[in-house]
Amino acid sequence: MTALLQVQDLYKIHGGSGDEQPVLRGVSFEVKDSEFVCIMGPSGSGKTTLLHLLSGLDEPSAGTVMLAGQDLAKAKEEDRTLQRRSQVGYVFQFFHLMPNLSVLENIGLPLAIAGKNPDKGAGRIRELGKKLGIEGRLDAFPHELSGGEMQRASIARALIGGQPLLLCDEPTGNLAQAAGREVMEELKRANAEEGRTVVLVTHNPRDAAFADRVLFLVDGELSDVTVEGDAVSEAAVTDALQRLSI
Ligand SMILES: Nc1ncnc2c1ncn2[C@@H]1O[C@H](COP(=O)(O)OP(=O)(O)OP(=O)(O)O)[C@@H](O)[C@H]1O
Ligand SMILES: [Mg+2]
Repeated sequence: MTALLQVQDLYKIHGGSGDEQPVLRGVSFEVKDSEFVCIMGPSGSGKTTLLHLLSGLDEPSAGTVMLAGQDLAKAKEEDRTLQRRSQVGYVFQFFHLMPNLSVLENIGLPLAIAGKNPDKGAGRIRELGKKLGIEGRLDAFPHELSGGEMQRASIARALIGGQPLLLCDEPTGNLAQAAGREVMEELKRANAEEGRTVVLVTHNPRDAAFADRVLFLVDGELSDVTVEGDAVSEAAVTDALQRLSI
């Protein structure tokens, strides 16, 4: 299997005054095509920062991110944006829905940006809305939604474009247990049936148990401790978190 993502010796220092400590300090890993990888770590350990770098939304201070064979750091801003649009569906931790668009329009945005007729995608939008339990909210606007509904809308938007890589930042963080499980099952289905690669950030060992491999980000570095293959289970992940004092 080829690696859809290759991350080499990634450093990130936020801010520009020069005396900040790096949030990421030499992070390296690969994610294979169609793999489902979970990244866990304490709050503030740099998980969201890492996902931003993987998608090319932000630039590393050092190191490289190869996404589908393209070095994001070497690409021009415009090419990086095109690469992100074609390769990445992104579930943002804080949703980032467009306030002036309806839920239906928000979900269809990746289609509109890709130059496809969103009206033609309306059936698929409704189908995804139904699967995610927001079919009755498609005509509402983001400010009329609960946190859980916003989260589900942002998940539908990440899924609609069919991009090969799904980056999901705590996609069940605002959902009750049953709704969270449905979202995870939908992500797993996209992974298993459509072969889409998933990188999931979560605090929840139950969600992590959907992954093929669980990595732990501690003090800006990936721990040697991993849980993978047949060993992945909620109990094994909980145990690893305890061992790492996360
Ligand atoms: N744009 C930014 N400018 C300055 N500092 C930032 C910026 N974004 C993140 N940070 C800092 O970088 C560190 C890592 O933040 P990040 O959001 O990546 O953590 P996280 O692991 O996603 O946390 P959580 O689990 O709470 O979502 C934090 O100390 C945060 O304050
Ligand atoms: Mg975060």
